[in-house]
Amino acid sequence: MKKRVLSGMRPTGKLHLGHLVGALENWVKLQEDYDTFFMAADWHALMGEYENPSVIPESIIDNVADWLAAGIDPSKSVIFIQSQVPEHLELHMIFSCFTPLGWLERCPTYKEQLREVKTRDMNTYGFLGYPVLQAADILIYKAEKVPVGEDQLPHLELTREIGRRFNSLYGRNVFPEPEAILTKTPRLLGLDGRKMSKSYNNAIYLSDSEEAIKTKVQTMFTDPLRIRLSDKGHPETCNVFDYYSLFVPHMKEEVHDWCSNAKTGCTECKKRLALHLIAKLRPGVEKRRELLADKEKILHILENGKEKAQEVTRQTLKEVKEALWPKI
Ligand code: TRP
Repeated sequence: MKKRVLSGMRPTGKLHLGHLVGALENWVKLQEDYDTFFMAADWHALMGEYENPSVIPESIIDNVADWLAAGIDPSKSVIFIQSQVPEHLELHMIFSCFTPLGWLERCPTYKEQLREVKTRDMNTYGFLGYPVLQAADILIYKAEKVPVGEDQLPHLELTREIGRRFNSLYGRNVFPEPEAILTKTPRLLGLDGRKMSKSYNNAIYLSDSEEAIKTKVQTMFTDPLRIRLSDKGHPETCNVFDYYSLFVPHMKEEVHDWCSNAKTGCTECKKRLALHLIAKLRPGVEKRRELLADKEKILHILENGKEKAQEVTRQTLKEVKEALWPKI
C-alpha cells in the first residue's frame, strides 16, 4: 500500500513561478510513489478574503488549470475543493473542542499575520483556528506525508499535537503523525529580489504572455556593482543568475563566464533568460489554454475528486465518532 500524501493551496489569485518550483513540480513527482490528494483550500482562502470572496471561485478554476497543465494527473491524484467535502468542517469542530487556545495564540504564523497584514482585519475567531482546520484537512485522510513550504512547519507540528491529543483522550489510535516533505528548491525570489508574491507585484505568472515575461525579466535587479558592460559582475549575488541555475541549469557555467569576465551585458543576459523561460513555460501555457476553453471538464474532474475524497473522509469520521461516543 502506498503512503498517503495530502497538500493544498489557497485559491486567492493567479499562480506564479514560485508556486511552480516551490510546490507543483514536487506534487507532480509525488504522484508516482504516493496515494496523492490535492485540494483547493477555499475555506482557508476565505479567512483572508472574506471581504472579497468572489476571487476564490475564479481562482479555483484558474489554479486547478495550472495544476493540470503542470502535470497533476486526475488518474493518479484526487483533486478536489475543500468546501465540497464537508467532513473537513465536522472534524474541525471536534478538534476545536479540545485544542487549547494557547497552542493557537503561540503559533508563529498567526502572530506574524496579525502583525504584518494591515489591509484587512485578521483578528477573527476563524483565523485563530486556521491550523485547526488544516489539521482536520490532513488527518481526515490519515495522510502521512504533507508537502509544504517551510513556513507551514508550525501548522504541521500543531497537526501532530492535535492528532495525538485525540488519540490519547479517546484511547484509540485513529490518527497517524504526519510529516512534512520539504522541497529542495531554494526559495525563488521575485523580480525585485524580495520573496515572490502577488502583494509585492514582483511575480512572473504561469499565465503571463510572452511579451509580459520579456518586459518583466528586463526589470529584474542584477549585480549592483556591475554598472558598465566592461565591469566584471558577481553572479553569486545576482538574482538573474539564480534563475538560470534553476530554470536553465545546463547554461550555468556559460552564464557565469559571461558575467564574471564581462563578456555579455546584463540586458542581453536577461533577454536570453526571458526566451528560455518562455520556452519552458510554453507547453504549460498551451495546455492551460485548452483546459480553460472547456471549463466543464475541470468541473467534472473536481466532482470526481470530491467523490473519491468522500470515500475516505466518511470512513474516518465514522471511526472518529465511534471513538468519541456511543451510537444513540
Ligand atoms: N496553509 C496552507 C498554505 O497556506 C494551505 C493548506 C490548507 C494546506 N490546508 C492544508 C497545506 C493542508 C497542506 C495541507 O499554503
